[in-house]
Amino acid sequence: MRRLFPVTDETAAPGGRSGTSGGGRGGPGGGGGEDGAGREWSLAELAAAYAYPEAGAGSGPGGGREPWLRANMVSTLDGAAQHEGRSQPISCPADMRIFGTLRALADVVLVGAETVRQEGYRPARARAEFAAAREAAGQGPAAAVAVVSASLDLDFSLPLFASPLVPTLILTGSAAPPDRVAAAEAAGVRVVTAGEGAGVDPGRAVRALAERGYTRLLTEGGPRLLGQLVAAGVLDELCLTVAPMLTAGDAQRIAGGPAVTLPRRFTLKSMLEEDGFLFTRYARP
Ligand SMILES: NC(=O)c1ccc[n+]([C@@H]2O[C@H](COP(=O)([O-])OP(=O)(O)OC[C@H]3O[C@@H](n4cnc5c(N)ncnc54)[C@H](OP(=O)(O)O)[C@@H]3O)[C@@H](O)[C@H]2O)c1
Repeated sequence: MRRLFPVTDETAAPGGRSGTSGGGRGGPGGGGGEDGAGREWSLAELAAAYAYPEAGAGSGPGGGREPWLRANMVSTLDGAAQHEGRSQPISCPADMRIFGTLRALADVVLVGAETVRQEGYRPARARAEFAAAREAAGQGPAAAVAVVSASLDLDFSLPLFASPLVPTLILTGSAAPPDRVAAAEAAGVRVVTAGEGAGVDPGRAVRALAERGYTRLLTEGGPRLLGQLVAAGVLDELCLTVAPMLTAGDAQRIAGGPAVTLPRRFTLKSMLEEDGFLFTRYARP
C-alpha cells in the first residue's frame, strides 16, 4: 500500500531513501520510500491513518466526545455498491484490512437491516492487535452493532443478536411491532426508539447513540440507510474504496433515496492505493 495524498517526501520520491528507519513516529510513510514500492502497512499504521478526531476533555465510554459519524463503503468505477447482492465481489484484501481497522476504531457500527439480511452480518470480534488501544480509549473489547430497522424482521437466533461479545442494539421507530420488540429483547438485544412512527430519524439515531456513550460512529450502509444519513446532514466522513472494476447493470450506488437540494461538498483528507484500489477519506469541511 502507498499513500497518494496528502503528498509526503516519501510519496513524492517513491524510489528515494530518506534515511529514516521504519516503525518510527512517522507512521505510514516512515520507512523512506517503501510506500512507493507498496509495502504492506501494519494494522497500527492503518489505525493511525484512520484515527477519529481528537476528543475534548471528558470522561465515560465516549470520553466526553462529540459524535463523529464515518461511513465506510466500496464502489466500482461505474458506481456499483454491490455485485449479485453482495459487496464482497468488489472488495479486496486491503479493503478488508481497512474495513477491520475501521471497526476496531469504532464504538458502534450502524447498519441497515437489509445489509444485515443480505450479507449475513456477524458481531464484531475482539482482536488482540487492537485490545490495548481500545482499552486506553475507554472502549469495550469490540464495537457494538446497531441495526436500523422498522419491521424488526430479523432472525434473533443468529450470533449477531444471540451471542455478540457486546450487546447488539436495534434502532427503530415508536410504532415498531411490539411482538418483534419483545422477541428482540428476549434475545438480549437493546431496542432503542429513535423516531416517531415506523421510521428512525437519522439525527435522533446519532444523538441516541451518543447519549449511550457511542460517539465514534461507523456506518457500513447500506445505500438506503446512507442516503438518509447524507440527506439529514449527519454524515461527517466518508471512507470510500474505489474498486478498479466495471460492472454495468443496475446495482445500487453507495447512497440512495431522494436527492439532497444542494450537493454536499466534502474535502479529501487522504488517499491510499494498493493493487489499483483507491482508499479515499473525505470529511465535511
Ligand atoms: N458497497 C458497500 O460498501 C455496501 C455496504 C453495505 C451494503 N451494501 C449492499 O447494499 C445492499 C443492501 O442495502 P440497502 O440499501 O438495500 O439496505 P440497507 O440500507 O442496508 O437497509 C435498508 C433497511 O434498513 C431499515 N431502514 C433504513 N432506514 C430506516 C429508517 N429510517 N427507519 C427504520 N428502518 C430503516 C429498513 O429495515 P426493515 O426492512 O427491517 O424495516 C430497510 O428495509 C446489499 O446488496 C449489500 O450488499 C453495499
